[in-house]
Amino acid sequence: MKPRHFITLNDLSADELRAIIQRAIELKKMRTDGVIFEPLKNKVLAMVFEKSSTRTRISFEAGMTQFGGSALFLSPRDTQLGRGEPIEDSARVISRMVDGIMLRTNDHKTVTAFAAHSKVPVINGLTDRFHPCQLLADLQTWFELRGDIKGHHVCWIGDGNNMCQSYINAAKLLDFQLTIACPPGYEPEEQLLTSTSTHVKLFHDAKQAAKNADLVVTDVWASMGHEEEQKIREKAFADFQVNRHIMSTAQPDALFMHCLPAHREEEVSAEVLDGQQSVVWDEAENRLHAQKALLEFLMA
Ligand code: CP
Ligand code: NVA
Repeated sequence: MKPRHFITLNDLSADELRAIIQRAIELKKMRTDGVIFEPLKNKVLAMVFEKSSTRTRISFEAGMTQFGGSALFLSPRDTQLGRGEPIEDSARVISRMVDGIMLRTNDHKTVTAFAAHSKVPVINGLTDRFHPCQLLADLQTWFELRGDIKGHHVCWIGDGNNMCQSYINAAKLLDFQLTIACPPGYEPEEQLLTSTSTHVKLFHDAKQAAKNADLVVTDVWASMGHEEEQKIREKAFADFQVNRHIMSTAQPDALFMHCLPAHREEEVSAEVLDGQQSVVWDEAENRLHAQKALLEFLMA
């Protein structure tokens, strides 16, 4: 039997996604109450990281330990993955020894190729195109504070990157409106926009996009792999900082989210990131609970 994978949010139905979010909220409460719950006893999650990580690595590793299992950190620098062993062969071998595999890779195709040859569930821990695990945490944070997101208005300001594209998937799946403001040349993939046009609207003006939004979200201007474009991007994105002027066009009770790490006074002012409307620390913590719900869904 083919295993279930989590490569993008579209691997879940809307009902499954809502159930995972609710389960994440329950698991969070169980942890606060000190309940020991070990549905993954003796199970092993392999974690392949081609790029740096703080939150993803710690949340998956801590989550597996709390569930009674364990996690293995694998870097291409000190495995055969970095010496040219084909990804398909690596998938066949690694998946015969562990119960689940999480990958953070440069190229999205690496994760899809890996999944096609894996006997066990594969989880996308960020690629150049999507970051679905972060969306689980963002959605959990919204549901905890505001209830279901259906019919609400989310505004994405900044790069049409992996996070933006994951928000596009979420908008269609959970039926909310997404307005995106990005500089010309930094839009999300055309085909994604076309297939979600009922839920997603593109702007090149941040204030316009943020008007009446219930949630404002941004991310770094230069994602991992684009560091050498930092200076060019600082110019291109100069009018796309989330600051008090942008937040004042959104709803008065609008929330602010950022997947972190953040650059204060670049994509977001310190005042907004550290202010009343920001929920970024809950959002970061929820990576743990949301991914535990995902691990239970895929591996228990
Ligand atoms: N938000 C996020 O994925 O953080 P890390 O890069 O630290 O894992
Ligand atoms: N868009 C960012 C997210 C980091 C968690 C990146 O890909 O670097």
